[in-house]
Amino acid sequence: MTKLNVSATVSLAILFVTAGLAAGAPAPAAPEAATGYKPAPMPYPENALEPVITEKTVQFHYGKHHKGYADKLNDLVKGTPLADKKIEELITLSANQPDKVALFNNAAQVWNHDFFWASMKPGGGGTPTGKLADMIKESFGSFEEFKKQFIDTAMSQFGSGWTWLVIDGKNLKILKTGNADTPITQGLKPLICLDVWEHAYYLDYQNRRKDFATVFLDKLVNWDFAAARLAGK
Ligand SMILES: [Fe+2]
Repeated sequence: MTKLNVSATVSLAILFVTAGLAAGAPAPAAPEAATGYKPAPMPYPENALEPVITEKTVQFHYGKHHKGYADKLNDLVKGTPLADKKIEELITLSANQPDKVALFNNAAQVWNHDFFWASMKPGGGGTPTGKLADMIKESFGSFEEFKKQFIDTAMSQFGSGWTWLVIDGKNLKILKTGNADTPITQGLKPLICLDVWEHAYYLDYQNRRKDFATVFLDKLVNWDFAAARLAGK
């Protein structure tokens, strides 16, 4: 688990830097220290996903919701030994602990959202190549079948949650998690995720979650990020 989480952190840091530079954005600051939890720097400008996801949605989603989880997390751990732990450790130690529900929810939501922003890029979408494309074909039969199953899974999540493409042994698997739940507590390594909380799409797509999941795959998903994760970076 420790190796997985360190790998995830490094991968995110690398992708944030490379994606930000590619988009012409200033190089983001170094990853945050273990204390003072903050959302990871956005990998691209807040208007860079227009018109698929509007700047207004990103401003609320990143600036209010994502930051709000980090603020609540800081309030929970302030002045305690937990304040010095990596966020993945907070997730692991609080998962399935009835007395640590708030800690888990806010820590996991910070991590999940960091991963969500990294799962997209301006001009993304299309089809993956190389080993990732081969594994998708082996696991789902075809890329079109993968898309169908990913969208169906996003639609079948009742209420708030997430849709994930993860590595499960030698195969890839699509899964959904409710509320703040995250596959890293199951020892699974995510490659991409889609936020299906209504705050992710309501301003732009109202109740049309299927449209949002479809354009995520067609125009935003960052297959370079997923391939780097698959390669262990
Ligand atoms: Fe969200």
